[in-house]
Amino acid sequence: MAVTILKGTVVSAPALGKLSIWENGYLIAENGVITGVFPTLPEQYAGAPVEDFGDALILQSFADLHLHAPQYPMLGMGMDLPLLDWLNAYAFPTEARFADPDYARAVYGQLARELVENGTTRVCMFSSLHREATLILMEELEKAGVTGYVGKVNMDRNSLPGVLEETTEDSMRETLRWLDECQDLRYIKPILTPRFTPSCTNELMAFLGKLSAERDLPVQSHLSENTSEIEWVRQLHPDCQQYWETYAKYGLWNSRTIMAHCVWSDQRERQAMAEAGVTMVHCADSNQNLCSGVAPVRTMLKEGVRVALGSDIAGGDHLSMFDVTAAALRASKARRILDGWETDLLTVPEAWYLATSGGAAYFGEQPGFAPGDPLHAIVLDDSALPQPHPLTPAERLERCVYRRQSGAIRAVWSAGRKVYTAE
Ligand code: GUN
Ligand code: FE
Repeated sequence: MAVTILKGTVVSAPALGKLSIWENGYLIAENGVITGVFPTLPEQYAGAPVEDFGDALILQSFADLHLHAPQYPMLGMGMDLPLLDWLNAYAFPTEARFADPDYARAVYGQLARELVENGTTRVCMFSSLHREATLILMEELEKAGVTGYVGKVNMDRNSLPGVLEETTEDSMRETLRWLDECQDLRYIKPILTPRFTPSCTNELMAFLGKLSAERDLPVQSHLSENTSEIEWVRQLHPDCQQYWETYAKYGLWNSRTIMAHCVWSDQRERQAMAEAGVTMVHCADSNQNLCSGVAPVRTMLKEGVRVALGSDIAGGDHLSMFDVTAAALRASKARRILDGWETDLLTVPEAWYLATSGGAAYFGEQPGFAPGDPLHAIVLDDSALPQPHPLTPAERLERCVYRRQSGAIRAVWSAGRKVYTAE
């Protein structure tokens, strides 16, 4: 049996707002599955090799529950327009490049490696509408050691005809072919991905809802990100009182549904999320860059909505989930001010929970380093930061969130496999 024993300052997020800390602790996995965290080495492991990281922090790795792989080439560029104009001016033309499989292979290999180096080991990711490039993306993620879901995007209207748009028939056929072709992958699975309501005809939405039910496939999309988008959806679906109902109507609204943004979701829409068990993905960087607004995350948590974090590259300009976590913290303060100081801000342990355990929950994992779950972990060496006086592990974690150091991640485990070691 393969045993992994990691020794260091183990910090995990076992509940919203709570950190568990073991200084000089032992995080142990057998055959890639966590058996526990122990203050001393249990006798049964005496003599087994221990990877001793000294004082370094051993943390859960990140789950990025919303990002667009084909927008990676424009990361850090073109964020001077609101959502709908930004899609047409920047995002769609960039995604159109992925008609070229060679381009896709080169870009996606780089993206996959950068994710792992930054400690992101679980993703829910949008590809482009291209079947071949989507398969390449899945292969490159699998090769690099990333786990999770990738979706071939469906978009058969209101896009860029001749540049980036498919017919309804093509969209259906290519989706079925893609599902057949990606069956042999082990760690990267398919997720149905209607881009958002304005991009999909009713016929396509109905097809995807039926497919989701027949093959038990999860679904990801966007919801209530921007006020112009919401108004457009209202015009497209006058029969629906609210945006979320345009998904619910077609069987795309259940406990395996992921909805990114939800910036403008009011109490009724939030209740629909909580009742259905939909996971809301908060993308604070993107919401600021595209002038979308500030999502009421703290309120959603109080109301029992499942929340995770997403980088939403390239509406978001940071791939590192340390940065995304810091952005969520800042956004919660902006939200508090907008709410007349009536709502709470997110604490660092809460934001850390959302970036790790919150996202991992979507994959059926328990919070923290729980026995029985696959080992997803990072070793973080913060020794390059000044330390004139001793800090607690919680203070060190807080500082690492706000002061990310490139190269501080020394090693990464994903689903039990060591997938990265810093040189
Ligand atoms: N809504 C539809 N497509 C997109 C996209 O690519 N990015 C964001 N942020 N929102 C979207
Ligand atoms: Fe998005």
